[in-house]
Amino acid sequence: MKLAFFDTKPYDRVAFDRAVEGRGIEIKYFETKLTEDTVELAAGHDAVCAFVNDTVNAAVIDRLTALGIGTLALRSAGFNNVDMKHAFGRLHVLRVPAYSPYAVAEHTMALLLTSVRRIHKAYIRTRDFNFSLAGMTGFDLHGKTVGVIGTGRIGRVFIDICRGFGMRVLAYDKFPAKDLDNGDTVRYVALDTLLAESDILSLHCPLTEDTYHLIDGEALKKCRRGVVLLNTSRGALVDAEALLAAIKSRHVGAACLDVYEEESDFFFEDHSGHILEDDTLARLISMPNVIVSSHQAFLTEEALANIADTTVGNLLALFEDGQCQNEVCYKNGTAEDCKSGKCF
Ligand code: NAI
Repeated sequence: MKLAFFDTKPYDRVAFDRAVEGRGIEIKYFETKLTEDTVELAAGHDAVCAFVNDTVNAAVIDRLTALGIGTLALRSAGFNNVDMKHAFGRLHVLRVPAYSPYAVAEHTMALLLTSVRRIHKAYIRTRDFNFSLAGMTGFDLHGKTVGVIGTGRIGRVFIDICRGFGMRVLAYDKFPAKDLDNGDTVRYVALDTLLAESDILSLHCPLTEDTYHLIDGEALKKCRRGVVLLNTSRGALVDAEALLAAIKSRHVGAACLDVYEEESDFFFEDHSGHILEDDTLARLISMPNVIVSSHQAFLTEEALANIADTTVGNLLALFEDGQCQNEVCYKNGTAEDCKSGKCF
C-alpha cells in the first residue's frame, strides 16, 4: 500500500518508519500541508495521511476522489478540519481516537503551574542572574475550583490530576459520565454555574458547531474576575478577540493556550525571522499573563508511538479486512446511515 503523508515533521518519520517496518506500507513523506494546491501530490497513492492543520474541504475531497483515492487516515483524534458531510460516501475517514490522554492532560497542568507560579518568568530572570522575586507571587492550587468542560478521556485524566492537588472540580459535558460525579469533590453542574464558580477553566471538549466560540465575550463576562483560562483542545472553542479584550480589561487573570483559532497559518513552523501577520496572536503572546505553546500537548514519545501504531493498524484493518473500528466517516455508508448519525 502506498501512503501519501502530509505535513511531515522529523518526529513523525521516526515513529512511522518504525511502525510500518515489514508491514507492506510504503510511505512518501511530504513536508507541505494538504491543501487544494498540494493535493495533486497524492496521485499514485492508495491513501492519504493528514494531521490537524491539513485542509480536507470539499474541493480536496473531490480531487482525492478523482485521483482514485478513497481513504484518509487522520493521525489525530479531532476531525474538525475535515468536511465530514462531503466526505460521507466518498472517503473512508479513519482516526486515532486516543493516543495518550495523559500527554495532553499533563501538558495542561504544566501550563497551569507555569502560569500561576510564574515559572516562565523565573526561567528568564535567573538566566540573567536576576534573583529578584518582585512580581512573582503566585497562588496555591489547593482548595481552588477548576471548571472542566468536556469530561472524556483527556478531561477525566485532567480531573484526576487536579484532585491530586486538592482542587474542587466542577464539570460540564453534553453527555455526562455516569460514574464521575461523587457529589462532593467532583460535581456536574450547568455551564453557567461552572463559569460563575470556577477559579480556573479548562477546555477538553471537541470543536463542533455547538462548541464554536463556546468561550466568547458573554461567557467570559460570566466568569470570575481573575479566572485562568486553559485551552489545550481546539483554538476556535475560544473567541480570541474576546479573550484579548477580557485580558486587557483585567477580567481574565491569565490564559494558557496550546491551540489558537488561526493556528494553521503559524503553528508547527519557525516564524522567528518574520513579522507576525496576526495582530491578535502577537498581542496575546506579548501579554505577561499569557502562555502560548504551539499545539504541543500531544507531543510525547508515548503518544507519537501510539499515533503511528494505531494509524498503521487502521489502514491495515481497512485494506485487509475491509473494515476499521476507528472509521469516523463511511465511504460505503448509505444516506440512512448518515441520518441515523452513523456517518460521524
Ligand atoms: P473525548 O471524545 O474522549 O471527550 C470529549 C468529551 O467532550 C466527551 O465527553 C463529550 O461528551 C464532550 N462533549 C462533546 N460535545 C460537547 C459539548 N457541546 N459541550 C460539552 N462537552 C461536549 O475526547 P478527548 O480524547 O478527551 O479529546 C478532547 C479534545 O482534545 C479533542 O476533541 C481535541 O480537540 C483535543 N486534543 C488536543 C490535543 C493537543 O495536542 N492539544 C491532542 C488531542 C486532543
